[in-house]
Amino acid sequence: MGDSTQFIIAGNWKMNGMLDESLAFVDALTENPSPTAVEMAICPPFTLLHPLSKPFADKGVKLGAQSVYFEESGAFTGSISPLMVKDAGCHYVILGHSERRDIMHEDNALLLKKLNAVWKHGLEPMFCIGEHLEEREAGTTNDVLKGQLSVLEGTDTSLPLTVAYEPVWAIGTGKTASPEQVSETHAFVHEELARLGRTCKVLYGGSVNAGNAESLMACAGVDGALVGGASLKADSFMEIVAAASRVAA
Ligand code: 13P
Repeated sequence: MGDSTQFIIAGNWKMNGMLDESLAFVDALTENPSPTAVEMAICPPFTLLHPLSKPFADKGVKLGAQSVYFEESGAFTGSISPLMVKDAGCHYVILGHSERRDIMHEDNALLLKKLNAVWKHGLEPMFCIGEHLEEREAGTTNDVLKGQLSVLEGTDTSLPLTVAYEPVWAIGTGKTASPEQVSETHAFVHEELARLGRTCKVLYGGSVNAGNAESLMACAGVDGALVGGASLKADSFMEIVAAASRVAA
């Protein structure tokens, strides 16, 4: 994609991780075999952002938050602002994850506010999109993805963005999209992004693990992975990084 590394391997720890085990994770990280080809990032829960900021930086791992509220500060009990995650050393903020869309009812209007707030503070959104099984079976995948990407319409295309395509039916299920489905869908997402004036990386997410990462990263249009379960252990995370570096070679 020209701008930086070929692949981004990002871990989304979701609501997992205690301080001790996360420091043990950092200790167990081995060296990135191809730092110029593969970028590593981890998005831990908010409570671990500050303590992991320096240890991750020392190991060449970019830090990301899993969400933010769109206000900077004030009477918003329980919320975390973009300013706070920036202060904690974050580069990325995951937005639009299906778990936030489905469980917390985040919609396009809210996501646009969050995108703008994240951009305002110099952070890079990792914007997630993906269809449910019924939508894939009904043949409406591309319409769903187009609707989710429509939030980007009219936004400043010079602002940084990474997109993650995560079919909801592949998240945490052990099912992954087939190489044909991945290539076809990534081609559509890149095409739609181009129509919106954007060229950016599109990661694949959904049951990525050490065993399937190499074939997924080899699919056309795949620029990395957003990894849930398999990112919780340093060895499986590093095996995915190694798989990406083999594809990059
Ligand atoms: P799993 O890798 O556990 O399927 O999770 C994917 C995901 O939702 C990453 O954001």
